[in-house]
Amino acid sequence: MKIIHISAECYPIAKVGGLADVVGALPKYQNEIGANSAVIMPFYNTKFTQSHKFTLVYQANLILGNQELNFDILKIEDAVLEFDVFFVHVKDLLYTESVYTDNDTNRFLAFQIAALDWILTLKKKPDYIHCHDHHTGLIPFMAQESYKYESLNKIPVITTIHNAQYQGWMSYDNLYKIPEFNIENVGLLMWDGMINPLAAAIKCAWRVTTVSPSYMEELKYSANGLESLLSHESSKAVGILNGIDSAVWNPETDKFIIKNYKKTTVESGKKANKEWLCSQFNLDKSKPLFAFIGRLVGEKGAELLPHALDYALRSKDIAVIVLGSGAKETEKELFDLILKHKGNYNAFIGYDEKLSHIIYAGADFLLMPSRVEPCGLNQMYSLRYGTVPIVRRIGGLKDTVVDIGDHGFGICHNEVSEQDIVVAINRGKEFYTQQKEFKANRKHIMSIDHSWEVSTKAYINLYNSIN
Ligand code: ADP
Ligand code: GLC
Repeated sequence: MKIIHISAECYPIAKVGGLADVVGALPKYQNEIGANSAVIMPFYNTKFTQSHKFTLVYQANLILGNQELNFDILKIEDAVLEFDVFFVHVKDLLYTESVYTDNDTNRFLAFQIAALDWILTLKKKPDYIHCHDHHTGLIPFMAQESYKYESLNKIPVITTIHNAQYQGWMSYDNLYKIPEFNIENVGLLMWDGMINPLAAAIKCAWRVTTVSPSYMEELKYSANGLESLLSHESSKAVGILNGIDSAVWNPETDKFIIKNYKKTTVESGKKANKEWLCSQFNLDKSKPLFAFIGRLVGEKGAELLPHALDYALRSKDIAVIVLGSGAKETEKELFDLILKHKGNYNAFIGYDEKLSHIIYAGADFLLMPSRVEPCGLNQMYSLRYGTVPIVRRIGGLKDTVVDIGDHGFGICHNEVSEQDIVVAINRGKEFYTQQKEFKANRKHIMSIDHSWEVSTKAYINLYNSIN
């Protein structure tokens, strides 16, 4: 079974969020059970691309409206990953330092056209094309409708929605950039007067998946304008919970953390990581340590954190660390709290992969007050590292965390509000005082299995169900 994933992100090559983690893991686990799974992604100017060697696989020109652009397909020279990655190199458009820019319409159009142009030339075509998010949302349409890709239209195309908030909207005057098709079918591209790549993917993909079962249900009521479309297409849509890459996210072998540990050594292991964090960030190591890691955006409920944390920190009996970047105002408010709560609070505004691992290892609790959470990986990483997740009951968080009050292992709240966050922190504080139960819970959560094995099979079954 030959599968080609097409994505804007893939860990460890280019990562903005969980999309990268999933695309960097799923192909690997598909290969482990006998599939032949590879990734096509853009060639960005990242640390990874600067520090590896690449070979040229294919070279051609692509047509983007009235522009003709040269593109290369590159492959990593050494087998550094456990799956093949093919890069689309369009120097003037895709070779940027950040994954996303303000010219993404042209960038991802060129990427998708180049990817299909190249697939067209392959002797052994993929059995399945698996697209991720709106950046690849026009592929299901083009593979089905564009005349030049006619020979691909029997290949099932699957689209996974990692996040329906972003849809890749573009104005109608971009239509001429999409390889020619029967204009009578233009409606497949449109939603609410715009070309909407995510909507087009939902209409044209052979199957649509989301990254948790609860999110699939929620999308029918709240999908940034696509609710009715998702309800209408629900017969071909299914929610498959993400897994975590248990080779990368393993406290026993994690190269990023200060001290490795397993279930039997969790206390001393977490202590060493917490002590390091507390000394680096001037925090009181005797207090329960609450952490937040993530994009500082509305979806994550991040704008509520400054006030909620300010309030919770008044009692001076907790320590808090924040790692994130995003909305400038939230960044500033979170930064400003540092002086006010010196010794009990600190924040690193930015992106730091290594620090994120140490925080999962060293914190006692991880906060996720998300407004929208299609799956969420942080809570699963925190479980693996023995850190109690404090989550809002939504999407994938609802599917993976059970409250201690319901014989579970985490702390859940219903609303995205400062009050609910503070109450949840207080419940955490209370739980922390019951050290015997708290320590037993740590061991328990480390053994919850969220590895990719189960979900990998679910995807393979889904592909098989198409034929
Ligand atoms: P999303 O993809 O919506 O941002 P996920 O929970 O699926 O949310 O995945 C987020 C991923 O990005 C996790 O691997 C998390 O550790 C990582 N991450 C988010 N923000 C940062 C940051 N500032 N520094 C390091 N890692 C981060
Ligand atoms: C998106 C979602 C997140 C999910 C990730 C990986 O970024 O916001 O909830 O875990 O994709 O599927």
